[in-house]
Amino acid sequence: MAPYTTGRTLRVPVAVLLSSGFVCGQVNSSSSFDVLDYVDTFIGTSNGGHSFAGATLPFGMAKAVADTIGENQAGFAYDTTNVTGFSHMHDSGTGGSPSLGNFPIFVHPGCPGDSLDNCTWQQSDRATSWIQGSPKASPGYFGIALQNGVRAEMTVTNHSALYQFTFTNGSTDSFSPVVLVDLMDLPQSRTNGTASVDPSTGRLTGNGTFNPSFGIGSYDLHFCADVQGASVRDTGVWTNNRAGLGQTSVSLTSDGSNTPSTLSAGSFTRLHAPTANNTLFVRVGVSFISVEQACSNAEKEQPNFDFPGTVAAAEDVWRAKLDAFRVNADGVSTDLQKVFWSGMYRAMISPQDYTGENPLWESDEPYYDSYYCIWDSFRGVHQLLTLADPLSQSRMLRSLIDIYRHEGYLPDCRMSLCKGYTQGGSNADVLLTEALLKNISDIDWATAYEAVVKNAEVEPANWNVEGRGGLNSWKTLEYIPTDDFDPYGVGLHTRSISRTVEYAYDDFCISEIALRLGHQSDYEKYIQRATNWQNMFKDDQTSFIGGVDTNFTGFLQPRYPNGTWGYQDPIFCSPLLNFDSCYLNANGHETYEGSAWLYTFFVPQDMAALITRLGGSATFTSRLSYLHDSGLLYVGDEQAFLTVFQFHYSGRPALSTERAHFYIPSQFNTSTSGIPGNDDSGAMGSFAVLSMMGLYPVHGQDVYLINPPFFKEISIQNKVTGNVATIKNINFDPTYQSIYIQSAKRDGQPWTKNWITHDFFYEGGVLELELGPMESAWGTQDEDLPPSMSSQ
Ligand SMILES: *[C@@H]1O[C@H](CO)[C@@H](O)[C@H](O)[C@H]1NC(C)=O
Ligand SMILES: *[C@@H]1O[C@H](CO)[C@@H](O)[C@H](O)[C@H]1NC(C)=O
Ligand SMILES: *[C@@H]1O[C@H](CO)[C@@H](O)[C@H](O)[C@H]1NC(C)=O
Ligand SMILES: *[C@@H]1O[C@H](CO)[C@@H](O)[C@H](O)[C@H]1NC(C)=O
Ligand SMILES: *[C@@H]1O[C@H](CO)[C@@H](O)[C@H](O)[C@H]1NC(C)=O
Ligand SMILES: *[C@@H]1O[C@H](CO)[C@@H](O)[C@H](O)[C@H]1NC(C)=O
Ligand SMILES: *[C@@H]1O[C@H](CO)[C@@H](O)[C@H](O)[C@H]1NC(C)=O
Ligand SMILES: *[C@@H]1O[C@H](CO)[C@@H](O)[C@H](O)[C@H]1NC(C)=O
Ligand SMILES: *[C@@H]1O[C@H](CO)[C@@H](O)[C@H](O)[C@H]1NC(C)=O
Ligand SMILES: *[C@@H]1O[C@H](CO)[C@@H](O)[C@H](O)[C@H]1NC(C)=O
Ligand SMILES: *[C@@H]1O[C@H](CO)[C@@H](O)[C@H](O)[C@H]1NC(C)=O
Ligand SMILES: *[C@@H]1O[C@H](CO)[C@@H](O)[C@H](O)[C@H]1NC(C)=O
Repeated sequence: MAPYTTGRTLRVPVAVLLSSGFVCGQVNSSSSFDVLDYVDTFIGTSNGGHSFAGATLPFGMAKAVADTIGENQAGFAYDTTNVTGFSHMHDSGTGGSPSLGNFPIFVHPGCPGDSLDNCTWQQSDRATSWIQGSPKASPGYFGIALQNGVRAEMTVTNHSALYQFTFTNGSTDSFSPVVLVDLMDLPQSRTNGTASVDPSTGRLTGNGTFNPSFGIGSYDLHFCADVQGASVRDTGVWTNNRAGLGQTSVSLTSDGSNTPSTLSAGSFTRLHAPTANNTLFVRVGVSFISVEQACSNAEKEQPNFDFPGTVAAAEDVWRAKLDAFRVNADGVSTDLQKVFWSGMYRAMISPQDYTGENPLWESDEPYYDSYYCIWDSFRGVHQLLTLADPLSQSRMLRSLIDIYRHEGYLPDCRMSLCKGYTQGGSNADVLLTEALLKNISDIDWATAYEAVVKNAEVEPANWNVEGRGGLNSWKTLEYIPTDDFDPYGVGLHTRSISRTVEYAYDDFCISEIALRLGHQSDYEKYIQRATNWQNMFKDDQTSFIGGVDTNFTGFLQPRYPNGTWGYQDPIFCSPLLNFDSCYLNANGHETYEGSAWLYTFFVPQDMAALITRLGGSATFTSRLSYLHDSGLLYVGDEQAFLTVFQFHYSGRPALSTERAHFYIPSQFNTSTSGIPGNDDSGAMGSFAVLSMMGLYPVHGQDVYLINPPFFKEISIQNKVTGNVATIKNINFDPTYQSIYIQSAKRDGQPWTKNWITHDFFYEGGVLELELGPMESAWGTQDEDLPPSMSSQ
């Protein structure tokens, strides 16, 4: 059976273009260019990348894929062998428990001997190996073949999935397909649930109560599945590994303790042989509101079970979304182009648009979910969306502010309508600040300001899931002490170093909003607090690796409430020492998912002061190079991103460019294990795109650090203003020997600063970068460096 192939002839050119200078498929338009050919949705699906490989619309709620046994955080993983079902909602790239995967369906071609008891039902028994090489996927489409002779293909709309099952062993004597639904989810978190079946139509419906994969509380979800392509033979329910005809519903109730149950149960519809093509369609609507809404979502969005039409519609939506960026890819390998476009694609899977699906409060504002987590996405994902899709960025921030209105705090992580765990600071502060600086539209700034000030001032009862902890110490001691005394709220008393540097940066960001909204005394308060990182900087702290002095002195160190220094080896929790010891658990340490070596560089608000403190530009440059060369840095976690480009601050932009090429493609490539860590809702993907774009944004600031794009030319159209910003490499060398900027011109005038602001994208323009094979003096003078708060 040939896989479903996307119909090239159906493709309608997307022509929603605001600017006349921006009409072709690529900067160098070869008419055959289709950006979807450069999206490989399998990148990052093995070796712990946890990328979602299945069918989704941009930010869509329905995300259909085959669920496998293994590291199935996003359902399908390439390094697995067995499929347990097909489910309709997922997250992408996340690191907590597997997410969602509720109400998987599974299809048997028939039961051996035509006896229901000979079919497998529960998850562990029905698991079937998938045929290596069979998975095929592209934006809006996923297909896979199973050993039982079923080829499963799927596509989606915003709130429903459509499955096409083709039976390659169609004509055995027991050919009577069984479609079952299981009240389970991927993390096996269900407490209560009910599955029903309508004997006359075969419609399967139900609900369940589940737990979020990295947070607290529970959520209810509903589904509605309809079959087309075969007539109903009979229906029933099943539990464990036994099924019976006639009964129309099965309910599972947890005991009083609400302990999640691993009991598999559900309803089923048995069909006669399909009427055509050995093919059966199953359409599944989902809703957080009700079964009725799940059914109506499906009926409205896919009235006709039109598989090719739904795929084609999804493809067109993706083409339009990816259209803000255009590249001239002359000489650039197909693989690098795929790293770029696939990275952008993955940054547009989450947060998910659940507008109209939020049962928690009534609102006219958009509701997005799966901010999973802002700790990851504040360093790249939202910077990329600000460029590629500023309207969605605006809707996401409006939704964050609306969450504040109704939950009392901005989240730092949120999924499945529940509060997720905060990993460090209150980083929504950073997103909102950047949005103000970059002209993101339609934001209620008064409420946004109220929300960020609350983060900085009012400690929540449970600061594991919102706000910040230790605020009393933060205000009085001006650092987060180790062994803090904090009777004001409950949370994990770990991460004193990483929380201190993040809180300091968050306060810097708040000061930027205060300044612009005219709150002068707040501005002064928060700009002062932004220096608090200095209070954990121990000037005489040394660092040894394997007994050898690294010869760098001065690191962040833990401090007790009485001011006495504690000690954490500066390399602790780097790949060189106890790499896995700094997670979000009670015996985590003073840094989160990284070392004091790494966190000592986290002073984006005042790199000038940091450089002085570390001994000046030359010492800083060699220390930052050492971080990258020594094995101390793990680039698969988001705190690493900015360190790739911080050479700009010591007047060595050429070294940032070298580092970008050092990591791409060696750590970011097209293999299924082609990202160095969890994709974290597209964070790794966005890092690759922003690095290859050349202008790397400093999160929370109106600053892009200038490097040459990996392409001869790249253009970015602002979808709000219609203006186009173009970055051109003169003397472009696709072998990347000649990567050093010799001189730059912005709109024809010399540009000597090694950074540029967002007005370039907002107003449009041309930045020309002349390249050469050697580092030059361009961008190296003090007056060329990006801004720092202490030198303004
Ligand atoms: C466009 O691309 C083609 C094929 O890569 C190349 O031969 C041609 O020279 C390019 N044209 C321009 C104007 O760059
Ligand atoms: C099906 O199940 C029955 C018992 O219910 C058993 O006797 C029979 O051998 C099975 N048939 C096949 C083909 O496995
Ligand atoms: C996969 O399923 C096959 C049967 O199809 C079974 O023999 C095997 O043990 C399963 N493997 C895993 C990892 O579950
Ligand atoms: C279906 O066919 C495949 C090969 O085409 C075979 O390996 C498999 O056993 C068959 N399954 C059933 C249930 O007949
Ligand atoms: C899907 O949702 C997006 C917003 O996230 C919306 O723009 C789009 O129109 C929706 N698609 C359909 C077909 O309703
Ligand atoms: C599950 O149902 C039982 C009985 O109806 C109820 O007491 C319990 O609160 C429910 N649990 C959840 C998590 O909704
Ligand atoms: C699930 O459906 C059952 C049967 O319709 C109903 O009794 C129950 O209240 C529903 N639970 C939720 C959480 O909606
Ligand atoms: C069967 O397949 C053919 C060819 O792909 C298609 O034209 C026809 O619509 C299909 N029939 C059904 C009922 O899906
Ligand atoms: C630090 O300096 C000492 C003495 O000059 C030298 O032996 C050692 O190799 C240096 N360490 C590193 C990592 O270069
Ligand atoms: C400060 O507190 C730490 C930890 O409780 C203790 O070990 C140390 O002796 C104290 N230092 C002073 C000067 O009291
Ligand atoms: C691709 O990236 C992965 C993950 O970062 C890395 O382990 C692998 O070595 C890279 N492969 C190539 C060919 O560079
Ligand atoms: C913000 O918008 C104003 C007014 O349209 C414009 O002049 C300015 O350049 C924009 N700034 C940025 C950073 O986009």
